Amino acid sequence: MCGIIGCAGRDGETLDVLVHGLSKLEYRGYDSAGVALAGSDLDVCKTAGEIDELRAALEERSPSGSVGIGHTRWSTHGPPTDENAHPHLDCNREVAVVHNGIIENYQELRDELSTAGHEFRSDTDTEVVPHLIEDALADGADPEDAVRQAVARLEGSYAVCVVMSGVDRIFAARNDSPLVLGVDGEARSASESASGDEPRAAYYLASDVPAFRDHTDRVVYLADGEFAVVDADGYRVTTLDGEPVEKTEDTVDWDPEETGKSGYDHFMLKEIHEQPRALRQCFRGRVDELSGTVDLADLGDLSPRGVQLVACGTSYHAAVYAAQLFQQAGIPAQAFLASEYATSPPPIGDALVIGVTQSGETADTLSALREARRRGARTLAVTNTVGSTVARECDHAMYIRAGPEIGVAATKTFSSQIAALNLLSLAITSVGDSREVISGLRDLPGAVQEILDTSTAQEIAETYRDAESYFFIGRGLHYPVALEGALKMKEITYKHAEGFAAGELKHGPLALVTSDTPVFAVVTGDDEQATKTVGNVKEVEARDAPVVAVTDGASDVERYADHVLEVPDTHRRVAAVVANVQLQLVAYHTADMLGRSIDKPRNLAKSVTVE
Ligand code: F6R
Repeated sequence: MCGIIGCAGRDGETLDVLVHGLSKLEYRGYDSAGVALAGSDLDVCKTAGEIDELRAALEERSPSGSVGIGHTRWSTHGPPTDENAHPHLDCNREVAVVHNGIIENYQELRDELSTAGHEFRSDTDTEVVPHLIEDALADGADPEDAVRQAVARLEGSYAVCVVMSGVDRIFAARNDSPLVLGVDGEARSASESASGDEPRAAYYLASDVPAFRDHTDRVVYLADGEFAVVDADGYRVTTLDGEPVEKTEDTVDWDPEETGKSGYDHFMLKEIHEQPRALRQCFRGRVDELSGTVDLADLGDLSPRGVQLVACGTSYHAAVYAAQLFQQAGIPAQAFLASEYATSPPPIGDALVIGVTQSGETADTLSALREARRRGARTLAVTNTVGSTVARECDHAMYIRAGPEIGVAATKTFSSQIAALNLLSLAITSVGDSREVISGLRDLPGAVQEILDTSTAQEIAETYRDAESYFFIGRGLHYPVALEGALKMKEITYKHAEGFAAGELKHGPLALVTSDTPVFAVVTGDDEQATKTVGNVKEVEARDAPVVAVTDGASDVERYADHVLEVPDTHRRVAAVVANVQLQLVAYHTADMLGRSIDKPRNLAKSVTVE
């Protein structure tokens, strides 16, 4: 669970490009960082801590070289120390390796290498790689072959980049961990042509596109089992055995600006405010309001008899929401925590298994989908990340089009997942009121904007910032909103928060409710569900708990609430999104007042590529 960057062809700027790229990848992990530059020598600088610590170390000593690699780490083997930071080196300090993933047979390899006399300096699984390369070089292999031989010995997941002293090339390989190539060949200007200067070209490798998006929008996604050799003259992709692979170039369609904070204090706040635009992007070209239909023709004919959704964390909450939509449309559907799916797999029958994952790289979700495929299921990825592992491995992929999300806490991707899953449910089921749903979806970006413009969440956060514990309740489609409200609160404020199905409170959790536990109740509309939730609100009010009602005012919940967070009157299928925006803002402002590390909460990482 780390971020990798590599760069060739930026002579004199390599170090700056690497450090800038690492700062864009910090969301993938941030407990240590390092760089290695190669030219005639190999120069390495690495340190525990965030990228700023690395910057400080580089002020004292600036490595130089024509090619380079960098890494930001999220620990899996060994604590975050200088020694465990990547890049890792061989005994002679001539080979440097950065790695994302987990090498499952590392202990066996390490024992073998130690017995052969290699000295290890770190606790990491990664360090076996430079030592394996060192052995192959000593046996007479050329640099490229030495890396291939080493990689062939690895079991598990990896994206690796390797540089060596005296070699102006980067070698890279991937299996089960993301790695993408950036291509930046500038056309020759007239004066350059006249002067006979060579056109400038640069090539990048990274775990994710934001690392080099400021330099190029042209990308080549590497697949599992592929091996790349990159230098200032270009790139070559083969299988690990050396068979050439034809790759096609893609163009990413989002702006580098989109990965900056654009004046907001935190990425999370910026991303909360980007929701209206993200939602519009999700709907664009997919909805015909006049006919009341949704066109997802690129997915082909799905017509499932049943649906199983697998996901983790926030994406799981979107899956719980979507399962209700499918059930309401008469399709048996169930949401599973991806990490639990394989332990007691449900009968697949003719079900479509949908993996909901914004990153597209979450190991638990990938593993559940692989299990489903192994048992014969058709799979569909609902993801934000084009070219991600989930999109490539599933039979079908539907993109939520939220744009890059940098803050570790998922916000706009949750809203866009709900929007996309709404479209999907309309496309594959026949819902009587599809015109009404579609007009509800059309109004959704405006409703979210209204909340962003008028929310009093900051005042609520101020009132309850010192509470020890927060409860969130909701029923039906608002139940996943209660779960999500609590998850957001706990992950960025570090305070205890729990979400419940409103009716469950009286079956146990009510014992915890006191005047010190604010209860956020999500109640919209005035149907039977709303009336029942108002009944549950009365139960907590009677125990002196402060109540914050997130409501459109249709029920009489306000009578029992100490505060109200208003939401516009929307279609019941989209009310969950608007209510959730209020809860995102409460969590954000509470964390901000408490001085928390909002974009990079402790112990968490954006992309969880280990099971
Ligand atoms: C919480 C959060 C996580 C992710 C989870 C799954 O704010 O972001 O709970 O939702 O790790 O990630 P994806 O959607 O990338 O599979």
